[in-house]
Amino acid sequence: MASFEDTDFFMDLSLVDDPYPYFDYLRSRGPVTRLPEHNVVAVTGFEEALAVHLDTEHFSAVNSVTGPLPPIPFVPEGDDITAQIEAHRPQMPFGEEVLTLDPPRHTPLRSLMMKLFTPSRLKEMESYLTLLADQLIDEFEARGACELVRDYSRPYATLAIADLLGVPEEDRNAFRVNAGGAPSQVGAGAAEVVNPMEFRHQKFLHYVEDRRASPRGDILSTLANATFPDGSMPDAMDVVRVATLLFGAGQDTTATLLGNCLKIIAEKPDLQAQLRAEPAGISAFIEEVLRFNGPVKSTFRLARKPTSLGGEDIPVGTTVMITTGAVNRDPRKFDEPAQFRIGRPGAKDHLAFGRGTHTCPGAPLARTETRISIERMLARLGEIAIDPERHGPEGDRRFSYLPTYVFRSLAELHLRFTG
Ligand code: HEM
Repeated sequence: MASFEDTDFFMDLSLVDDPYPYFDYLRSRGPVTRLPEHNVVAVTGFEEALAVHLDTEHFSAVNSVTGPLPPIPFVPEGDDITAQIEAHRPQMPFGEEVLTLDPPRHTPLRSLMMKLFTPSRLKEMESYLTLLADQLIDEFEARGACELVRDYSRPYATLAIADLLGVPEEDRNAFRVNAGGAPSQVGAGAAEVVNPMEFRHQKFLHYVEDRRASPRGDILSTLANATFPDGSMPDAMDVVRVATLLFGAGQDTTATLLGNCLKIIAEKPDLQAQLRAEPAGISAFIEEVLRFNGPVKSTFRLARKPTSLGGEDIPVGTTVMITTGAVNRDPRKFDEPAQFRIGRPGAKDHLAFGRGTHTCPGAPLARTETRISIERMLARLGEIAIDPERHGPEGDRRFSYLPTYVFRSLAELHLRFTG
């Protein structure tokens, strides 16, 4: 096994295209191991990762998105840094988003968000998701080729969240272009060139104020007028934050899952034939992709009280990296974890969507979006293959991933279709 003793996971771009040998190295050092840099312990054991997800007393989610970079903007003092964390949230990136808040502040905002994710709402969305898949496929089918990320995955994920939130039809293309997708006839309307966060804040503030002044019985009205569990009305900006977070959290992750699924389908003709013959197996296939090569490589917590984990002392101020990409290949949990095996026992037990307080509310939507996309692509397109001119010939493929230590996202995926 390669040694990565001096490797800095957070800076070393050579780990981006294939992090798995490094994850194997971390695991060989034990389920919880201290890294040489940035005051981080890495968790690769399944049981230990689950314990961190479920323990909000010792671990804060304040750094869940960014991990150790930038470092926390204060020097930890004493045996409980909760008050210091709360005081410094405004200086920390994403420090006041639902994803990073801890109970009790997290609880009412999460409940506001969950009002959107009812099973009946998701069921209602299915016909739109199918229509959307077909409309996007229409745009490239005749070409016999596509660049999946730009032509399909990103616009699909963006427009799906726009539908979840009830963004009016005439504004959807603007959301699509703003999120980096190609403009199209799907969701007509002019696009403004503004930074995506600012664009979504402006739009949602307008929607919320408008629906508060005159409710219309649409989803935006439900969201704008939803109350906290104690009956009080949230600030308009709280609602805006929830809506814009959903765009941020649900777009790249789902687009990434679609890319990781299609790459495997395009590389394995036998598997592709099997899924065409039995579309009912697509959900089990997606579950194995989530485990084997899920969109999120790592998520983080900050130790706010001293504790220990897997035999390692964890002093306050330590960043705990839940190394999801490694955890989902823990051989104590999954037999022969480096094998891609659809329908393995306990296939859904992976931590690709986290667990506990911050468990992904978008998981059912992401699974549905991905299943419908694969169903429609297999139904509409001839044999799907990797474009050898862009990624090299079989046996010598080259794929680039986005340079981040959090996501496992293909930068581009060029596909060709035959027949
Ligand atoms: C395959 C796609 C997706 C993956 C792999 C994924 C993964 C995750 C993970 C691992 C977490 C927990 C992070 C932590 O504990 O630190 C999370 C939280 C979250 N996800 Fe997802 N997600 C996906 C899709 C979505 C979608 C489609 C949406 C929205 C429509 C969404 C919205 C959120 C939100 C709002 C949170 C924060 C919840 C909270 O803090 O209470 N995600 N996601």
